[in-house]
Amino acid sequence: TMALRPLLVGNWKMHGDGRNLPIIAAIGEAAQRHPGVDVALCLPATLIDRARDACPGLTIGGQDCHAEPSGAHTGDISALMLREAGASLVLLGHSERRRDHHEGDALIAAKVRAARAAGLDVVLCVGETAEDHAAGRSADVVREQLTRSLAGANGPGIAIAYEPVWAIGGDRTPEPTEVEMMAGLIRDTVSGVRILYGGSVTPDNGAALFEQGGIDGFLVGRQSLDAGAFKAILTLM
Ligand code: G3P
Repeated sequence: TMALRPLLVGNWKMHGDGRNLPIIAAIGEAAQRHPGVDVALCLPATLIDRARDACPGLTIGGQDCHAEPSGAHTGDISALMLREAGASLVLLGHSERRRDHHEGDALIAAKVRAARAAGLDVVLCVGETAEDHAAGRSADVVREQLTRSLAGANGPGIAIAYEPVWAIGGDRTPEPTEVEMMAGLIRDTVSGVRILYGGSVTPDNGAALFEQGGIDGFLVGRQSLDAGAFKAILTLM
């Protein structure tokens, strides 16, 4: 199979305001110096249009969208609104959305359809909990999430981020061989998509995960808030 272009995505979660625009600009400049890697930053919605103006060359993403194009949904944001603000990508199904907002696979599938209809690329997040991992159910859980939350979507506008819930926000990561196994499972289930690993990626653990994990890139949380660390991860790819 032909190698796909590497993809590095940062997820700022609920962090960042106008004072952090220089970090975004620094990441945009680093992205321009590494034209072989696609780089995107998923920002709080309040920063999207300013980030777009500050770095027209950087791909900007949102972190969620509603499944409907508009309507009486106080506090929500539609895929078209993200697009109009300057995003060309959206994260969907992040474990923090699944946990904090009780998002299930059917809703996430509807969001994937809405995002694609609005012309947004999608990074769909999947991953097992610590309990599922301990019980040896990782493969079953991820296969089921993929089947139910993608509902047949595939191709170059979709990337799948494998984010084991137990590896997010701490300092534990799976062994590269385990990532490689899960990436293989994802590749066997969905065709033509890029596969990312996410969960406590750092400049230190990134090289082994990238070289041995069978992945096309990373979804990075905390280390994407630090331009130096994010650039160091980019340089590994
Ligand atoms: O979406 C990325 C994320 O969940 C991983 O966060 O801080 O462990 O890199 P972090």
